[in-house]
Amino acid sequence: MNNSRIVVSLDFPNGKQALELCQKLDPTQCKLKIGKELFTREGPVLVERFINIGFDVFLDLKYHDIPNTVASACRVAAELGVWMLNVHACGGRIMLETACEALDKSTHKPLLIAVTVLTSMTDSDLRKIGISNSVDEQVMLLAKLTKSSGLDGVVCSAKEAKYLSSELGKEFCLVTPGIRPVNADSDDQKRIMTPAEAIVAGSHYLVIGRPITKADDPLVALSAINAEINSVA
Ligand code: C5P
Repeated sequence: MNNSRIVVSLDFPNGKQALELCQKLDPTQCKLKIGKELFTREGPVLVERFINIGFDVFLDLKYHDIPNTVASACRVAAELGVWMLNVHACGGRIMLETACEALDKSTHKPLLIAVTVLTSMTDSDLRKIGISNSVDEQVMLLAKLTKSSGLDGVVCSAKEAKYLSSELGKEFCLVTPGIRPVNADSDDQKRIMTPAEAIVAGSHYLVIGRPITKADDPLVALSAINAEINSVA
């Protein structure tokens, strides 16, 4: 495992494009995130390929199912050798604890984090699915459930990092998307923070896509963000 706190999001429709990008990156300077689109297209073969090249891989499949099914999926992901994987915290305590137990028995133990409330959801969306808590209340409730169930951390907005870090402790791993270096295009992200701001707020790992993947020179962009992080870490 390398020390980089940048997780490059491979939001590509196929493995060819993802591999082309990764040939321009340095596995000692970043980790990679593979999500549903790329995984559904290419499957575990691509995950293993990146791991064999030397990248730490965050498998972002957000498992949410009955406890036995989620635990089995987590065990198989661990066998692939991924560095981090995730589940939905709203699957409940037994699902979360069972997933942790499955990973505890694995020879290779990835970090297990949870999604609390999807950032696409509003208070009104929650009410429509029978949840009267506000988004902020529900995020905190599920983050506490995640921690007390034994998981390593949560995915959250960098804007939530300071509060979550103070409530749940600095060891609890916060993985934050919505990061934009100063002067970078915000694209479709609405609530952004710079890499340095996010680290100061308590983020452990920054999920960054387009500012690196669409850069003229992705390695130069990656190195600049690493330098910015190192200046405040
Ligand atoms: O290109 P960009 O840096 O915006 O990519 C961010 C990545 O993080 C994308 O894969 C996006 O789906 C993911 N993500 C996010 N916001 C969340 C959860 C995940 O942007 N709340």
